[in-house]
Amino acid sequence: MSKIKVAVIGCGNIGRSGHIPAYISAGDECEIKYFCDIIPEKAEKCVADYGCGTAVADYHEILRDPEVDAVSVCVPNYMHKTITVDALRAGKHVLCEKPAAACYEDALEMQKVQHETGLTLNIGVVTRFHKGVEAVKKLVSDGTLGDVYHVFISFRSFRDIPGIGGAFTTKACSGGGVLIDWGVHRVDQVMYVVGDPEPLSVSAATFGYLGKDIKNYHYRSMWSEDTRDENGTYDVDESCTAVIRTSGPVITMVGAWAQNIDENEQYIDFMGTKAGVRLNYCGGFKLYSYKDGEFVTEEPPLPEGNMFNDEINAFLNSIKTGEKERSHIDYAVKTSMILQGAYDS
Ligand SMILES: NC(=O)c1ccc[n+]([C@@H]2O[C@H](COP(=O)([O-])OP(=O)(O)OC[C@H]3O[C@@H](n4cnc5c(N)ncnc54)[C@H](O)[C@@H]3O)[C@@H](O)[C@H]2O)c1
Repeated sequence: MSKIKVAVIGCGNIGRSGHIPAYISAGDECEIKYFCDIIPEKAEKCVADYGCGTAVADYHEILRDPEVDAVSVCVPNYMHKTITVDALRAGKHVLCEKPAAACYEDALEMQKVQHETGLTLNIGVVTRFHKGVEAVKKLVSDGTLGDVYHVFISFRSFRDIPGIGGAFTTKACSGGGVLIDWGVHRVDQVMYVVGDPEPLSVSAATFGYLGKDIKNYHYRSMWSEDTRDENGTYDVDESCTAVIRTSGPVITMVGAWAQNIDENEQYIDFMGTKAGVRLNYCGGFKLYSYKDGEFVTEEPPLPEGNMFNDEINAFLNSIKTGEKERSHIDYAVKTSMILQGAYDS
């Protein structure tokens, strides 16, 4: 197969930090033919910075080009469904950023169109490709932990509301706050590790107090600060808690972009009948067991890896071989169902 021709739609944070460098790292496998952004200077800057491709402002132009095989959708959540469905209908394979969509209904429609077209639709559930996550999945599947009956997720930060007042804190753009933005990665990687069980029920509560008065929200640093808008909207959750029952383990979680506890606690505990694991988010893990009459704690080293490169390579592989990768929409819709259930609850 000749080089796969791709286009990156949305030249903001994740386009530039994740997708574009990974396509470039893939070398001869692919070629970036277009950079697209509704802010033309952002697409033009990519052409200048990466020395390839053509800048366009309207993604329809890309979809009309028969030479383009695939697109990366790196735009705010509310546009995921529209662009993904348009691209699949135009015969392009799609890698769409997480969350699959701003709501479950949209994610289901994306899945339906994927099934109808038979093209690849992968979701940017990039932590499925993290070496720590892969290692813990192996410990679960080879029986080291015994039966995993409970998983506890903590994703709590002190003051980490991104771009307050902008797209991240405007429900119409994002679909929600910390639960959908950070929760999606955590729930998704747990689902992957424990074998993508069926969701059965969700009971949750979400809170949005600390960022409500945008002008008086105090912080030390802010991710996506360029989208901060003092006069913008804040109608999302900045903290949440949930109990999720599945056909596998029960998952409980506590998450916060912001809370009045000045600690950063980002880990997932897998409780098994034989052993337990604490997995640090995008980091290493500790394995707790009892061997030869002693309590043992092991911290195995992780192999080198780049999850964005692995995510893009998996996407290119799906396109070439039709193989169903771990980031396929069929897996991502389950997480979407859980998050929708949490918000509805
Ligand atoms: N996988 C991860 O770890 C990760 C990390 C950050 C963000 N994300 C996801 O990536 C997506 C984008 O987030 P971001 O932080 O890059 O946001 P961003 O605001 O930095 O970038 C989004 C870009 O999309 C452009 N855009 C908006 N509508 C468009 C349209 N119709 N056509 C073309 N361009 C359009 C915007 O002008 C902007 O440049 C979100 O869905 C977010 O959840 C994923």
